[in-house]
Amino acid sequence: MNILVVGSGGREHALCWAIAKSPKCTKLYCAPGNAGTSRIAVNVDIVADHIDDIVEFATSNAIDLVVVGPEAPLVAGLVDKLEDAGIKAFGPSAAAAALEGSKGFMKDLCARHNIPTADYGRFNEPDAAKEFILRHQAPIVVKADGLAAGKGVIICCNKNEAYAAIDHIMTERAFGSSGAEVVIEEFLEGEEASFFVLVDGETALAMRSAQDHKAAFDGDEGPNTGGMGAYTPAPIIDDAMSKRIMDEIIKPTIKAMSAEGMPYKGVLFAGLMITEDGPKLIEYNVRFGDPECQALMLALKSDILDALLDSARGNLKKTELAWHNAATLVVVMAAEGYPGRYDKGSEIKGVDKAEKLDGVVVFHAGTQEEDGRLLANGGRVLGIAAQAKTVAEAQKLAYKAIDKITWTKGFNRTDIGWRAINR
Ligand code: AMP
Ligand code: GLY
Repeated sequence: MNILVVGSGGREHALCWAIAKSPKCTKLYCAPGNAGTSRIAVNVDIVADHIDDIVEFATSNAIDLVVVGPEAPLVAGLVDKLEDAGIKAFGPSAAAAALEGSKGFMKDLCARHNIPTADYGRFNEPDAAKEFILRHQAPIVVKADGLAAGKGVIICCNKNEAYAAIDHIMTERAFGSSGAEVVIEEFLEGEEASFFVLVDGETALAMRSAQDHKAAFDGDEGPNTGGMGAYTPAPIIDDAMSKRIMDEIIKPTIKAMSAEGMPYKGVLFAGLMITEDGPKLIEYNVRFGDPECQALMLALKSDILDALLDSARGNLKKTELAWHNAATLVVVMAAEGYPGRYDKGSEIKGVDKAEKLDGVVVFHAGTQEEDGRLLANGGRVLGIAAQAKTVAEAQKLAYKAIDKITWTKGFNRTDIGWRAINR
């Protein structure tokens, strides 16, 4: 089969890496890809947001399945356009991708179907939003309704911060039109974890839980990033908790989306707070997490292509996934300055040495190859994934691999996995 993966990050390298292992995959493309994907796939010079160009490429290259990595093209309707052109795609329609594309849509759906989540209000007018804040307790959470590259959530310790957040999002339009509406939420206390399922419109197949580290620096300090590391499974999510998450959150969502005429398919990534009252939904993402995907792909024993095809074809009922009975952990190496301003073009050496370690895979994100040299080409640059019996051993192995890599302009956290290890 001819497969096209859309995107250019570590998540997409991990998807290519897993798909390339499938005997069903005869030709693999990645648009636009990175230096890592170029070793196992043909990189195609089309960026993920150029939907019409992707549809055109898929049509003229007889692509049998398009696997969409990032959320923006999903929310913009890439899967709808591919299906209109007769091409199978892994991922939700634009209507179903609103679970991530509009926080207000997600909250209203949860309210209509009794899915546990934080209490909230939804506003398209700053005065009404501020009036709501006046009537509620701090801490309180203010969120831009639309996509904001992971930056649209402001946790406010007091009401003045919350009023300022409303001005920032709605009046100053810090996130553009994504801030035309806001969701204001109760602050949830507990431990955060993520849960990933594959969905085919009706059936939800549990993958695994994971936890990530969003802060830039050790001790979960510093600015928020896309994710500086992750591991799977999350120790806080045991079998009983997994069952509750499936029964109380995931299955009711899939049923609701189908009942309301927007059947969900693709991967559904639930961001959860495990509270004293049980699991509560913080947010949905309609794609794999990055770097969670890198950990999941290394942990998966089954043929991922079969599962992605079953999702796209509505066949998940009989699908089973087998996992390595181990912990998998990924540490991100980022360019100095990330998530703020950073330089591109510095050289990275020693990746081949790191990859020789048993149980280690190096996934590329912002990389580029030039005259045989590996150069940094983005904020998050590499993801060093390691698999071992425990999270502690996987952590040790990942950092052993990082010791083999020489990159003077890069940095990484040195404590990925601390929460699981300290339990
Ligand atoms: P989101 O983009 O919705 O995942 O929000 C980013 C981060 O903000 C989450 O990972 C949580 O750490 C935090 N967060 C969002 N909503 C809440 C909430 N209602 N209560 C506590 N923390 C929250
Ligand atoms: N690592 C979090 C995310 O992909 O949203």
